[in-house]
Amino acid sequence: MSDPRFEEILAPLRANVKEQGDIVRKLKAEGAPDLDIKQAVAELKLRKKVLEDKELSLAPTSATFDRAKMEDLLKQEQMLEVDCSILTPETVLKASGHVDRFADLMTKDVKTGDCFRLDHLIKAHLEKIAVEKNTSPDVKAECRDIHTKLEGMNKEEMAAVMEKFNMKSPLTGNDLTEPIEFNLMFGIHIGPTGLVKGFLRPETAQGIFVNFKRLLEFNQGKLPFAAAQIGNAFRNEISPRSGLIRVREFTMAEIEHFCDPSNKKHPKFDDVRSTELLLYSACNQMDGKSPERHTIGSAVDKGLVANETLGYFMARIQTFLTRSGVDPTKLRFRQHMSNEMAHYAQDCWDAECLTSYGWIECVGCADRSAYDLSQHSKATGIRLAAERKLTEPKVVDVIEAVPNKAAIGKAFKKNAKQIVDALTTLSIEDIGNIEAKLDKDGTYDLVVDNNSFTLSKDMIDVKRYKKTVHVEDVIPSVIEPSFGIGRVMYTIFEHNFKTRENDEQRTYLSLPALVAPVKCSVLPLSSNTDFHPFIKELSSALTKLDISHKVDDSSGSIGRRYARTDEIAIPYGITIDFDTLKEPHSATLRERDSMGQVRISLNEIAEVVHNLSYNKLTWKEVENKYPKFEQQESKGN
Ligand code: ATP
Ligand code: GLY
Repeated sequence: MSDPRFEEILAPLRANVKEQGDIVRKLKAEGAPDLDIKQAVAELKLRKKVLEDKELSLAPTSATFDRAKMEDLLKQEQMLEVDCSILTPETVLKASGHVDRFADLMTKDVKTGDCFRLDHLIKAHLEKIAVEKNTSPDVKAECRDIHTKLEGMNKEEMAAVMEKFNMKSPLTGNDLTEPIEFNLMFGIHIGPTGLVKGFLRPETAQGIFVNFKRLLEFNQGKLPFAAAQIGNAFRNEISPRSGLIRVREFTMAEIEHFCDPSNKKHPKFDDVRSTELLLYSACNQMDGKSPERHTIGSAVDKGLVANETLGYFMARIQTFLTRSGVDPTKLRFRQHMSNEMAHYAQDCWDAECLTSYGWIECVGCADRSAYDLSQHSKATGIRLAAERKLTEPKVVDVIEAVPNKAAIGKAFKKNAKQIVDALTTLSIEDIGNIEAKLDKDGTYDLVVDNNSFTLSKDMIDVKRYKKTVHVEDVIPSVIEPSFGIGRVMYTIFEHNFKTRENDEQRTYLSLPALVAPVKCSVLPLSSNTDFHPFIKELSSALTKLDISHKVDDSSGSIGRRYARTDEIAIPYGITIDFDTLKEPHSATLRERDSMGQVRISLNEIAEVVHNLSYNKLTWKEVENKYPKFEQQESKGN
């Protein structure tokens, strides 16, 4: 503290701290009993706290933290990214429906207890039958039909398929149990007593829903707005397999877009209206037809996709996936059939990618309607709603249960606040019932947190009046794109794994430059020390432009080193050679997929790589502008 006026006030407090500090030091030096030392330290902490509090209270106001200002600044961001807790109390997931309904069907080997996920088991069984020589065409067609409809089948329908095809355990040939519902959440016990039950979150979404009020505030109470979250989710999958595709702990990236349920238009829909998507509607799946190409504009106009906001996100998902390297010819959007939909969903389209595992769901895009916010409102008694401006003000009847705080306080002492709070959150219907009961019997038993309190007539005054309102309450609808990062990454790897023509040994990853983790390699032709200053200069020019790069000055031939950088997806390579040493200094720039090379002056090259890496320039444009470098690339040179 620099101000001498404050020092005068603080001096005695500092002396107090020092006095106690000396006592602690002395006790320690004398090897005093532990208990005495502990007591002295506790006193020291108290004195320090008194000093700190005084210091803070005297601090000039400019030095204090202005939270309101910071929050104002944060409110200017368009979509909020949040980071909510993984440990989730049971009450939250009970309200969301996950405790009762987040389950997959499984079946067990009656003798060994081996567990199988039922839809996977049926799928594999039908695929086996369909290729057997003596299977009739009719049965083959039936297998195909069941295969298509399987995702939407319920417990009884799957049990019927098991019976019809006399399915046994594929491992032992033993009988299988009836289908069993298996909840996929990992249970936990929160806190030292172990009495608070909870779960590891099965999706990141619920954290956003329970923080809805705060997020709404950050968005000035206006719809639409969105929040996003990236984090791990946990599911006790019955049979995890297929590498990154089905694991028990995986990274999700979810956006919850909150909008007015009566207006699901999206302000930017016109920007994506003409985007073409391959849509596999529920209807086509049921009728055995193939997916069809539609612009998202016409799909929404026809009602095939439920609303603009859902359609907007589907188009954006496609753009995101294809720009990240998903092959557009191996991407489709499959609509959930009505009985396949998650318990919260009203319409849902999965972005599916074709891989060597078949079509896999990489991103789910669901209209969750007002389901989650309504459920959490019901469970907590706190209405999770936003305000909608009315086109014209309207007069409404208001009914209120006004508590007589003095009477309640006198009768219920420490429970009074709890009772008053409960009375202010009652619904119109509850108030009506209480009033009727008080009129009839003179008392009403109010239940709060499992405790019953008998209220008398003098404790509540039921008031009715009229009020002009300009806004009304709405529970927003939620549109949710939900990305499984592991599945998206796996697909990108598969779709970009390539082999050079005429050289099967030479594989490479053609990741788009935008997502390649390292954008550029710097390769000196040999270990000649004359190259060193040029490498240094180039590396710092690249760093200045934020281009992640890797200098490879190992001794292999240039062709071998190129091959190595191709394998780890580096899209561009700069080679420093003997011509670089001459004026005007230049280097070779090579593009990974075409292996084309051009010669560029050294002071331009970093900027060209930057523009290529962030889609501001195409390789074609670079080839048109700069002279071609003709030297053949082979493993030997
Ligand atoms: P599936 O039917 O394949 O089990 P799902 O329908 O349960 O998937 P969602 O509940 O919609 O999947 O989850 C959203 C996204 O999370 C999926 O699109 C997927 O990318 C990812 N995902 C779900 N389960 C897993 C898992 N076990 N391992 C890796 N990613 C997963
Ligand atoms: N949040 C989407 C899902 O878990 O399915």
